[in-house]
Amino acid sequence: MRRVSILFSVFAFCAAGLIAQNADLAQYQTWMKAGAGANGALRSAVTAKDAAAIKENSAKAAEAFDSIAKYWAGKDKADAVKFSEDARDAAKAVGAATDEAGQQAALGKLAGTCRGCHTPYRNGSDFK
Ligand code: HEC
Repeated sequence: MRRVSILFSVFAFCAAGLIAQNADLAQYQTWMKAGAGANGALRSAVTAKDAAAIKENSAKAAEAFDSIAKYWAGKDKADAVKFSEDARDAAKAVGAATDEAGQQAALGKLAGTCRGCHTPYRNGSDFK
C-alpha cells in the first residue's frame, strides 16, 4: 500500500511538472511567434522603405524579445538573456537608424541572435 502511494506521489509530481513546462512553453511560443513575426515584417518594411511599419515592428520585436529576456533571466541562463537583450536592442536600433545602411546593419545583428540562441536552446517547437 505504501509503495503504491509513493508511486502515485511520484507520478503526480511528474505530471505537475509536465503541465508547468507546457504552460511555460505555450507562453514562450506566444512571445517567440510575436518576435519572429515582427522580425519578418521589419525586414519587409525596410525593403519597402515604409517608415511607419518600421517603427511599429521595431517596437513589437523589441517588446517580444524583452519578455523573452525576462523569461531566461528567471531560468538563470545568462547566455540566453544576452541573446534576447541583443535581439531587443538590435530591433530598437532598426527603428532608430536614420538611413538604410544603418537599418540593414541592425537587421543583420538581429538575425544573428536567432541562430545564436536556437543552436543551444531550441529543439524544433520545444526547448532543448
Ligand atoms: C534567447 C533565445 C532565442 C532567440 C534570441 C530567438 N529564439 Fe526563436 N526560439 C527559441 C526557443 C528556445 C524556441 C523553441 C520553443 C518554441 O518553439 O517557441 C524558439 C522557437 C522559434 C520558432 C518556432 C515557434 C513555435 O511556434 O514553436 C520560431 C519561428 C523562431 N524561434 C524564430 C526566431 C527568430 C526569427 C529569431 C530572431 C529574430 C529568434 N527566434 C530568436 C529561442 C530563441
